[in-house]
Amino acid sequence: MGLLTGDALLSVAVAVAVFLLLLDLLHRRQRWAARYPPGPAPVPVLGNLLQLDFQDLPYSFYKLRHRFGDVFSLQLGWTPVVVLNGPSAVREALVDHSEDTSDRPSVPIYEHLGFKPHVQGVVMARYGPAWREQRRFSMSTLRNFGLGKKSLEQWVTEEAACLCATFATQDGLPFYPKALLNKAVCNVISSLVFGHRFEYDDPSLGRMLGLLEELLKEESGWMPQVLNTFPLLLHVLGLSERVFSGHIALSVLLDELVAEHRRTWDPAQPPRDLTDAFLAEIEKAKGNPASSFNQENLNAVTSDLFAAGTATTSSTLAWALLLMILHPDVQRRVQQEIDEVIGQGRRPEMADQACMPFTNAVIHEVQRFRHIGPLGTPHMVSRDTEVQGFLIPKGTTLITNLSSIMKDETVWDKPLKFYPGHFLDTKGCFVKPDAFMPFSAGPRTCLGEPLARMELFLFFTSLLQHFSFSVPEGQPQPSDHGTCGILFIPQPYQLCAVSR
Ligand code: HEM
Repeated sequence: MGLLTGDALLSVAVAVAVFLLLLDLLHRRQRWAARYPPGPAPVPVLGNLLQLDFQDLPYSFYKLRHRFGDVFSLQLGWTPVVVLNGPSAVREALVDHSEDTSDRPSVPIYEHLGFKPHVQGVVMARYGPAWREQRRFSMSTLRNFGLGKKSLEQWVTEEAACLCATFATQDGLPFYPKALLNKAVCNVISSLVFGHRFEYDDPSLGRMLGLLEELLKEESGWMPQVLNTFPLLLHVLGLSERVFSGHIALSVLLDELVAEHRRTWDPAQPPRDLTDAFLAEIEKAKGNPASSFNQENLNAVTSDLFAAGTATTSSTLAWALLLMILHPDVQRRVQQEIDEVIGQGRRPEMADQACMPFTNAVIHEVQRFRHIGPLGTPHMVSRDTEVQGFLIPKGTTLITNLSSIMKDETVWDKPLKFYPGHFLDTKGCFVKPDAFMPFSAGPRTCLGEPLARMELFLFFTSLLQHFSFSVPEGQPQPSDHGTCGILFIPQPYQLCAVSR
């Protein structure tokens, strides 16, 4: 067949353009439905992609909320999206209509990376039996972790002691705390999943953390949006292998660790950790095609726990230490409370929390003021649903702008300031406003919340029990403005940890 030239080429181009425009109209038909939320006008094919700053989506959403209100719509490529802002819209959607808003959107890049009906892990699993089974399993393993030799609290307490010992080796000289916080928190997940902690200089731990960081980068910014909008690009020669090399390498590493674990697994003994408990479930589920307990899903679930449970908690701790060096008066009050309630003679315990309202308020205020997951995780509406009087059609992706709740002027006295008083009543007792929801709400709320709370309290109090933190002499005050990707993290900063 000869090459098309002249008029024929023009006709083909016009036909393709008309076809694309019709397809575009088809994808946008929701916008004309009655009571569909307002939003900025999309352009053909790209929708609103070019109107958003993917390096700082919370700020783009902040401006759009001022223009369009608490519930506004966007078109990301051909994906219809509704963004929910403020506590009442988010609660109404996630709690009052939880049955209709707990699904996750299907993500072509994950499907390309191996998602199948019974291999979805937990975080991005569709709302159905496989998700329910794995969520229940992870939660009960977290709850019953005492079934191994050590309780989860013991693991965290011992890890906090290792972290303090390593901080002490810095001899009060300036250092970047982020890498050590990451290692300590990753070790807690590793203890839960593999019953094993790594020494901080173990190259396997460094490799795992490097891949987890890679994975977060791969999911941020423009590229995933473009590939999800035009999944055909995923099949372009080696593109996805290059863009998602971190995902793939992490999966290989976890496969190796699980295989290693399997060699030492004795089904006759009580499970040592989550992997043992999962392997036992795989045995039980043999011959049951409906079960989500299988080798591939073990990899997906463990990968989810490492990814969701490491940088979230360690970045919150990094914010906490940063805010302590920027607010030495607050740091001193926390240390005073630690000295009164715990002293220097023993390690902090979870039971101390109830007697430490100020420390508890500081940790909550860190999470409010510098919330690491400003936009939560996307949900999808599985049935036409009404929120704040707007109609959100089935199939629409929901983004819960948790950052808008944490800064809502109608809830917080000083939304843009670091002010632990937000969580204290007039008598100095700890109070938690309903709008505080860093872990989201409803059936998909963070399943690691109890563990995260335990880690934040035990790591933070252990560190402040042993050290006074300060900005290194001669260095400018570090900024409390962060960098926003999938997570909102502090810019790299150094501190000095001087033994008390
Ligand atoms: C400060 C620490 C943490 C914060 C702020 C946080 C926050 C969140 C948020 C906002 C979500 C999305 C909820 C939604 O879809 O509406 C989530 C989901 C999730 N988190 Fe966390 N998280 C933290 C720590 C952890 C830890 C330590 C673990 C692991 C043990 C964990 C495991 C998960 C999982 C598995 C999900 C998915 C739940 C589901 O889809 O059913 N998170 N988290």
